[in-house]
Amino acid sequence: MKPLPAQRLQGKHAVLTGAAGGIGLAVATAYLEQGARCTLADLPEQAPPDVAELLARHPQAQYVATDVTQTAAIAALIAQAEQAFGPITTLYNNAGIFDMAPLLDSDEAMFDRIFAVNVKGAFFVMQQVLAHMVQHGTQGAVINMASQAGRRGHPMVAHYCASKAAVISHTQSAALAMAAHHIRVNAIAPGVIDTPMWDRIDALFAQHQGTAPGERKRQVGAAVPLGYMGTPEDICGAAVFLASDEASYITAQTLNVCGGNVMN
Ligand SMILES: NC(=O)c1ccc[n+]([C@@H]2O[C@H](COP(=O)([O-])OP(=O)(O)OC[C@H]3O[C@@H](n4cnc5c(N)ncnc54)[C@H](O)[C@@H]3O)[C@@H](O)[C@H]2O)c1
Repeated sequence: MKPLPAQRLQGKHAVLTGAAGGIGLAVATAYLEQGARCTLADLPEQAPPDVAELLARHPQAQYVATDVTQTAAIAALIAQAEQAFGPITTLYNNAGIFDMAPLLDSDEAMFDRIFAVNVKGAFFVMQQVLAHMVQHGTQGAVINMASQAGRRGHPMVAHYCASKAAVISHTQSAALAMAAHHIRVNAIAPGVIDTPMWDRIDALFAQHQGTAPGERKRQVGAAVPLGYMGTPEDICGAAVFLASDEASYITAQTLNVCGGNVMN
C-alpha cells in the first residue's frame, strides 16, 4: 500500500477498541501517524509488546485495559480517555470475536459469547461515546467494524454473521439518531484479512472440515477478485478516510473493503 498523505487527523482524539492486535493495532498506528491522539483499549489479559512499542514511540497515545462487555468498564475507558486527551472526536469500534460450528451444534453459549462482544459490547461502547460527543457538542465520527459476513449467511458461521448484520443495522440507526448533532456513524465491512482472528478461523475449519493447517486461508485468499488475502494495513486507508473531515458528507454507510468479494 502507498503511504497515506500525512496529518489528516490532526486535532482528533480517537478511542479504538480491540486495539492490541490485528486490524485495531494497524488502525491505531495509522491514526497516530496521521496526527491523532489515541486511546487504545483491549482486554485486561492482553499484554502486547507491539502496543508497548507503539506507546514508546507516540507520547500522544495511551492504553486502557477494557472489556467491552462490561458497561462500567466502558464508562471508565471514556473517563480515562477524556482525562488524558480531552473530548473524544472519533471512535474506532473494533473489538470482536469469532466462533463457528455446524448450525445444529451452534449452542446458546456460543450465541451469548459472540453477541456479548460483537453486538452488546459494540453497541454500548458506541452509545456511551455518542452520549459523550453530544454532551461536549463534538461533531465526531464513529466507525464500527462490520464484516462481509454481515452481508450473507454461512452454514457454519450463523451467530458471527448475524452479529455483524446487527452491527450494520446499529450503524444505520445511530447515524440517523445522531445526524442532527452532526455526528457521523459509518461501518467498514472487511473481507478476509490476515490477522490472529483468521489463524483461529483456519484452525476451526481444520477441526470441522478436515482442511490442512493454512489451507482455508489459502483458499479464501485465492478466491478474492484482487487475488490475495488483505493485510490489516489494507483497512487503514478507509479507516483514516471515514475518520477524517474528507468524509464530512458520508454517514449511515457500510463500506466494503474486501478486494471485490462483495459488490453493492
Ligand atoms: N480478520 C478478518 O478477516 C475480519 C473480517 C471482517 C471483520 N473483521 C472484524 O474486524 C475486527 C478486528 O478483527 P481482527 O481480525 O483484527 O481480530 P483479532 O482477533 O486479531 O483482534 C480483535 C481484538 O479484539 C479484542 N477483544 C476481544 N474481545 C474483547 C473484549 N471483550 N473487550 C475488548 N477487546 C476485546 C481481542 O483481544 C483482539 O485484540 C473484529 O470486529 C472482526 O470481527 C475481521
